[in-house]
Amino acid sequence: MQFGTPLSHHALRVMLLGSGELGKEVIIELQRLGIETIAVDRYAHAPAHQVAHRAHVIDMGDAKALRALVEQERPHFIVPEIEAIATDELLSIEADGLARVIPTARAAQLTMNRAGIRRLAAETLQLPTSPYRFADSREKLHAAIREIGLPCFVKPVMSSSGKGQSLVREPEQIDAAWTYAAHAARIDRGEVIIEGMIDFDFEITLLTVRALDANGQPVTHFCAPIGHRQVNGDYVESWQPQPMSEVARNRARHLARQITDNLGGLGVFGVELFIKGDDVWFSELSPRPHDTGMVTLCTQYQSEFSLHARAILGLPVDVRLRETGASAVIYGNCDCTAPVYEGLAAALSVPNSDIRLFGKPYATLTRRMGVALSTAESTTIARERATLCASRIQLHAC
Ligand SMILES: Nc1ncnc2c1ncn2[C@@H]1O[C@H](COP(=O)(O)OP(=O)(O)O)[C@@H](O)[C@H]1O
Ligand SMILES: [Mg+2]
Repeated sequence: MQFGTPLSHHALRVMLLGSGELGKEVIIELQRLGIETIAVDRYAHAPAHQVAHRAHVIDMGDAKALRALVEQERPHFIVPEIEAIATDELLSIEADGLARVIPTARAAQLTMNRAGIRRLAAETLQLPTSPYRFADSREKLHAAIREIGLPCFVKPVMSSSGKGQSLVREPEQIDAAWTYAAHAARIDRGEVIIEGMIDFDFEITLLTVRALDANGQPVTHFCAPIGHRQVNGDYVESWQPQPMSEVARNRARHLARQITDNLGGLGVFGVELFIKGDDVWFSELSPRPHDTGMVTLCTQYQSEFSLHARAILGLPVDVRLRETGASAVIYGNCDCTAPVYEGLAAALSVPNSDIRLFGKPYATLTRRMGVALSTAESTTIARERATLCASRIQLHAC
């Protein structure tokens, strides 16, 4: 592959669909390699818009608008950063040879809907998962829960970051779970997945990278496991490495390899797994960098963003861990437009700590506005540092 000069007629162009904090770091890595970058999102001044050569605001769920923008920009690669995209149109863009979709249009389509990736994992590949059912009405939800048993999780099939998700412990909570899922679903298809609760010791993200070797063959690499803590389905802190038994580690890699081999293409996958002793369950997967993987900005020689950029471009990758570290989310903690940030000097005086502020144009109480990154000789100390560092940043209306 030839790398041209950005903003010239032979530039190598990458279009990001979704321009959040993960996309921002991917674009920065692409910029470092002299790639021409185009960032797309549904609102203006999204994080990755601010670092790309060009920024566009469209409804990415609108197939016509998506096609028109791709025909206008003629990217060589389309890199989905979110799930809510007109994935049927991505399939036809790929089939027409207009652009290469990362990792593949099929992977984007299968992971857009929880049903797609779950059926591939549990039914086609026979990977261990939580027991599950689907329901598209309140009555079917009740019936499904009678089969799965309590406690269980109810999630809209089209949702991310825990939106619309409930943990149902008592039969009295079932109706509220249905209503919550229906209201919070990203694209309301009125369908939920019901998952039996797995009583895990810990959960990990196994960053799995498909990249080309020197002979142009795809090779699978595994980063050190990332441990994380979720509150209401949204990540609060993560650390790397997460210790685990040799048996569990090999099983985790085996599961991740089976599903990423099936999805194919090149790039980073965030494979979410539940671990109990030596047992491993597949939970879900992002065919792109993962939010819990922001910790790799301080722990690996090449962060998950650098790995994604390199893998996409057919370049070799290095997944080695450099240091032990942790990340902690900095929340909006206020509802305001164009917030101001205070406490940076105090936050950065925490030893071995750094921050990323995403520059989002407005904050909400629970919106992720930045992340603290800390290294230490142990994950325990790294987590304390990252949490302290994050707590020192305050946002308020100006
Ligand atoms: N079946 C389950 N058993 C135990 N915990 C679960 C289960 N499903 C979800 N969780 C918890 O909720 C979190 C978010 O669920 P997930 O399916 O990953 O949704 P999202 O796509 O919003 O990230 C998980 O990381 C885990 O902590
Ligand atoms: Mg998840």
